[in-house]
Amino acid sequence: MDIDGKRIISVDDLSDGDVNRLFFHAHSMRDQKCIHDDKTLKNAVLMTAFFEPSTRTRLSFEMAALRLGVRTLAFHALSSSMAKGECEHKTITNLLALQPDILVIRRDSPFELPLVYKTTASIINGGDGVNEHPTQALLDCFTLLDHFRCDSLRGLRILIIGDVAHSRVAHSNIKLMSRLLAEVWTLTPAHWQVNLVPEHRRLVSFADVPKNIDVVMCLRVQKERLLDAHAFSEQIFSKDYCLTASRLDGLGNNCVVLHPGPINLGAEIAADVANHPRSLINEQVKNGVLVRAALIKHCLS
Ligand code: NCD
Repeated sequence: MDIDGKRIISVDDLSDGDVNRLFFHAHSMRDQKCIHDDKTLKNAVLMTAFFEPSTRTRLSFEMAALRLGVRTLAFHALSSSMAKGECEHKTITNLLALQPDILVIRRDSPFELPLVYKTTASIINGGDGVNEHPTQALLDCFTLLDHFRCDSLRGLRILIIGDVAHSRVAHSNIKLMSRLLAEVWTLTPAHWQVNLVPEHRRLVSFADVPKNIDVVMCLRVQKERLLDAHAFSEQIFSKDYCLTASRLDGLGNNCVVLHPGPINLGAEIAADVANHPRSLINEQVKNGVLVRAALIKHCLS
């Protein structure tokens, strides 16, 4: 297949027009109640190379590809030649030499690999360290546009609670939600705040949260990325920031709940909140397949 490869490393790599088209295609696939097996895609191969653990993202890409009729090939680091000492850079060189049409990569640090900018394959970032997770932000925003039945997030007040500093999900979401005109607030200890959000919307205490929050997103604490992990106390964090049912009640009567997963029940979100009628967590997972199918088509077009 002759493909002019795309690079989707950040949400900034997608124009407003691209984002609208992706959402439009994801919607039409859902309305038609199936992701059409597209004959023109049947010779394409999507490869996944996850150098960090994943449940949702890798399977969601693979499910989206399979539903489209695109074949998939998964690289597994643990059973690969990396176990014989080969480095990640050389491993990726090899994967690209196999000439997949799309390579989805997840790694523990930001993309600065010149080799992924040279290839003709499309490269999709499945999460790179603390930097970005563009497809998670796309599916989260799609879920909100769909739930609120609107074309933009204008007028919606979104509160992101938890480890904002180390969350690539938060970084991509703050950028994309702001582009879609949402009012984004963060609630986290001062040392986990980021300047992607205006200072007056960076909160450290539940007591300061404004009324009428429309959306709350809980984040897992990224313990694997904390420099002072030994000093972190889950008990203290949960006391101050875990989203309990009574705290959810205080946010607003119609406030919906998002969580990108993986979920640590009782740490950042209580079990009854994760399973609450206003929780959109399963919708996020379902919509992830649609949005990623639309992105795969975009890359192969
Ligand atoms: C997140 C990730 O890996 O960045 N999960 C996901 O992809 N759905 C969030 C996390 O690990 O906490």
